[in-house]
Amino acid sequence: MSARIPVLDGRHVLLGVSGSIAAFKAVALASKLTQAGALVDVALTRGAAELIRPLSFQAITHRPVYSDPFELPEDSEIGHVTVGRRAELVLVAPATAHTIARLALGLADDFLTTSVLASTAPLLIAPAMDAGMYDHPTVQEHLARLRARGAVIVEPASGHLASGLEGRGRLAEPEVLLEAACAVLGRTGDLAGWSLLVTAGGTQEPLDPVRFVGNRSSGKMGFAIAQRARDRGAQVTLISGPSALPDLYGVRMIRVTTAREMYQAVAAELPASDALLMAAAVADFRPEHAAEQKIKKSGAELVIRLVPNPDILRETRGIDGRRGRPIRVGFAAESQDLIANSRAKLEAKDLDLVVANDITQPGSGFEADTNRATLLSCDGLEELPLLPKTVLADVILDRVLALARARQR
Ligand SMILES: Cc1cc2nc3c(=O)[nH]c(=O)nc-3n(C[C@H](O)[C@H](O)[C@H](O)COP(=O)(O)O)c2cc1C
Repeated sequence: MSARIPVLDGRHVLLGVSGSIAAFKAVALASKLTQAGALVDVALTRGAAELIRPLSFQAITHRPVYSDPFELPEDSEIGHVTVGRRAELVLVAPATAHTIARLALGLADDFLTTSVLASTAPLLIAPAMDAGMYDHPTVQEHLARLRARGAVIVEPASGHLASGLEGRGRLAEPEVLLEAACAVLGRTGDLAGWSLLVTAGGTQEPLDPVRFVGNRSSGKMGFAIAQRARDRGAQVTLISGPSALPDLYGVRMIRVTTAREMYQAVAAELPASDALLMAAAVADFRPEHAAEQKIKKSGAELVIRLVPNPDILRETRGIDGRRGRPIRVGFAAESQDLIANSRAKLEAKDLDLVVANDITQPGSGFEADTNRATLLSCDGLEELPLLPKTVLADVILDRVLALARARQR
């Protein structure tokens, strides 16, 4: 499966690396960006060049690495102005206190800072510093100044620092920085201005404090939709049942446990949305009573009475979104009579689109990274091939956008 990410594929990213002990993590970031298809130019500050060699980046990006503005690489005639101007995103990671100060003040004393001044691209800054430096008023003042100018700051994490101290200042992980790059580059995508409400994962219906009735949904489909929608410029709220997947950068996350909690969250968020994509596998039933204490075995059989949960799509039929009736997308995971059951769902729940998949097919269903789906709408039926869930997410979003545009006409 290709690791290419559409919003990064073929895009010019200038990765600025400054003299932090976390500079080694920028190599992993350069690798992730390159694998995603980005054309990564690296600019090292003098401090960074003391800590890490240009070759580490060059071997990964297969492109020149810039450091001294007065010394052009042998095989390149490109200077800071060209590199700055062609960048579609400037990502400074790690950003030291010193480089943050230089950027805030508009100093232009090395290749990176000069390129940033020559660039009109969005600026993404990932600070990294030790021993309370991050909380120093000067650093915060500089960051506030950069934020006011439109820069996006990826907050450092708290934890163990290189000095042995604990505190705020650890560089965000490369995975998070990759996500942040996607979110910032995607801001002007075709879904800009749209507000999407996505659900993901299964729900857990408690039986007692330690047991629940649940299902095998991993959340991958809903998370993929939220991620791709964000990368295309949408404002996304993701309501997720319990899932091992981490929060998505740039997506408003609401974590819930039960079907009733998910229903309440959907009903509360829908009025601020333009479309609802219900990818969650919501439990149809819950135990009538959840025991307060752990149920003990007694040798006798245990009978659990299940009662129906609210049907979220059915219950939210009358709720208007930001621009009137929202586009409503349901998901049907079936093990038999796929098309008949999905068509019934389309009509009964007043949906615009049903994404139907036969969970008995190889490579489809709950825990897989792929899915073979059939799309049903009032216009008919479209059978899709086996696709990575991320690619399927884009196809679904294409259809949602087409439905929304058709309605605007
Ligand atoms: C081993 C080592 C690690 C450092 N780590 C950091 C750091 O994480 N954050 C920071 O702001 N400065 C750090 N510094 C200090 C900077 O390297 C120093 O302020 C330098 O002037 C930064 O210049 P630059 O931003 O142009 O790279 C470190 C210095 C050394 C020697």
